[in-house]
Amino acid sequence: MQAGFRFAHVSDAHLPLPPGRLGGLSTFANKRSLGLLSWRRKRHAIHRPEILAALLADVAGHAPDHVVVTGDLTNIALPDEFERARAWLERVGPPDRVSVVPGNHDATVRVPWEAGLGRWQPWMSGDTPDEGTPDEGFPFVRVRGPVAFVGVSTAVPTPPLLATGRVGAAQADRLEAVLADLGRRGLFRVVLMHHAPLLVGRSWRKALSDRRRVQDAFARAGAELVLHGHHHCHQIASLPGRGAAIPVIGVGSASAAPVGRAQAAQWNQFTVERRDGAWRLSALVRGCTVDGFHTEARYALTCGRHDAAA
Ligand SMILES: [Fe+2]
Repeated sequence: MQAGFRFAHVSDAHLPLPPGRLGGLSTFANKRSLGLLSWRRKRHAIHRPEILAALLADVAGHAPDHVVVTGDLTNIALPDEFERARAWLERVGPPDRVSVVPGNHDATVRVPWEAGLGRWQPWMSGDTPDEGTPDEGFPFVRVRGPVAFVGVSTAVPTPPLLATGRVGAAQADRLEAVLADLGRRGLFRVVLMHHAPLLVGRSWRKALSDRRRVQDAFARAGAELVLHGHHHCHQIASLPGRGAAIPVIGVGSASAAPVGRAQAAQWNQFTVERRDGAWRLSALVRGCTVDGFHTEARYALTCGRHDAAA
């Protein structure tokens, strides 16, 4: 058994929409209609519940200390989807061992908090009781062992054909403050966000619109790791941090079938250890093939502020 604190990163489950009539005209007189069309024409064949079930079984077989889920549990943000996603989260694990942030599909249209994202609140709450509006609940902070998980919301409704995200000035200010505080406490800071905090390829249509603001917060306060989803493929990049570069790692969709040219389902396991005064991060990439899940890659990084313990 490997020492250290282990956690799994899962993203973009896109739980299946049920067949049949899903609501009346008022439900679909908005961006949802395009999303439903896309689901019925193509996406239902890509995001398969049996693949997602096999992935969760593979995760459970590795017995992580914690699981993080970086958004897009739904497809078109129907209240029924939030309820189904809550039932799925209960199968992933209890709220104190599973942390969730929302994705752009979970904000396809604005849904009242109680009927929408509020259904997942137990998995999105910080260690200290949230105060103020739901928006002010982000970023939430959960300390588990040597790791501080910092959950950021990038999910905002956008016009049709756009899948951009936004953190906003107020949340970015709070993010910088909590990262600085957690850094002073010597914790391994893992930021969770659906959208990548940098441009992936040339995909501005899917980008975080205020990524510069977030990058500035990272540069001033630092972080040891940023995890994101959204692009449905494995990505490794880095951003300048305070004293050390910050690895930025994306993962494939948790439900993508191994067919066609799309990236098949994937999850990542990370192990955090303190060695010789520095943080060591070991990663395992688990990917789906027609024969089940296998290890696609292993790598290790030394990361974090070298003066973190000072
Ligand atoms: Fe997605």
